[in-house]
Amino acid sequence: MTRHNGSSPTKRNEKGRITNSSSTVGGSWWEEDGFWYGLHTLFDPARVPFFRTAIQTHALDSPQVLDVGSGGGFVAMGLGDIARVTPVDHSFDVAVAAQAAGVPRVVVAEAAQLPFGASTFDAVVCSEVLEHVPDPGAVIAEAARLVAPGGLFLFSTPARTMWSRIALIDAAQRWRLTRVLPSDLHDWDDFLTRDELVDLLEKNGFRLRRIAGIGVRFRSWPGSLAALMLLKMGRIGYAEAGRRIDLTVTASTRLAMIGYADRVS
Ligand SMILES: C[S@@+](CC[C@H](N)C(=O)[O-])C[C@H]1O[C@@H](n2cnc3c(N)ncnc32)[C@H](O)[C@@H]1O
Repeated sequence: MTRHNGSSPTKRNEKGRITNSSSTVGGSWWEEDGFWYGLHTLFDPARVPFFRTAIQTHALDSPQVLDVGSGGGFVAMGLGDIARVTPVDHSFDVAVAAQAAGVPRVVVAEAAQLPFGASTFDAVVCSEVLEHVPDPGAVIAEAARLVAPGGLFLFSTPARTMWSRIALIDAAQRWRLTRVLPSDLHDWDDFLTRDELVDLLEKNGFRLRRIAGIGVRFRSWPGSLAALMLLKMGRIGYAEAGRRIDLTVTASTRLAMIGYADRVS
């Protein structure tokens, strides 16, 4: 079992600067100084409104939503006022951290083998998870079993492209002068291409309704690059960097994909 959570606070060097290394991954999910809180500040302004709109425009009223690989429960909390959300994560420690932060009803289970009956949910969300599981097809198949006919599968995940290899792996994880993320956070080979993702959805009885990308808002490139430099220098932490990097839903899926499909069979 992967253990992401721990009690270690953000590490600072002798000058009091934040050392943004893999040692910070252990920070609590809802701690301003923790690594994972950056996921919330970086992604939620773009992805949560996208998921909310998808659910609401499909006229799902007070829907039952399953959040697979829920982590700290950022998405679950972001949907909490429009849906009854069941967060599920395979890590007991992560589930404990989410519950301690006030996320209700967290279930500990494997994404490809979930303890719920067929067609239990109106929607299944799988955000930033498909790239971390050994068999994304099995996770999508399990989602198809759990979503009622006409219900939705909502996803976000990096795309396996030349661009993502350079930006998300080489620059963000590998190159000494630019890296700001743990070197083992993502493996490019685990990313799906757009075609592979669409193929897996269709094979499992989903019909793609919308697919878009996630990227830095054009006018905010200077501020976003400055935030990355400050993060690299240890002047700000992940959460603050996430706030300053202005992500938005884009037409291009060259870095990451966000979208939803409905279950037709
Ligand atoms: C990058 S985090 C994303 C968390 C959350 N979805 C978000 O975006 O805020 C990936 C999460 O997926 C969980 N996870 C990874 N593999 C899993 C599996 N096979 N079954 C269930 N959860 C899994 C991890 O424990 C982790 O909490």
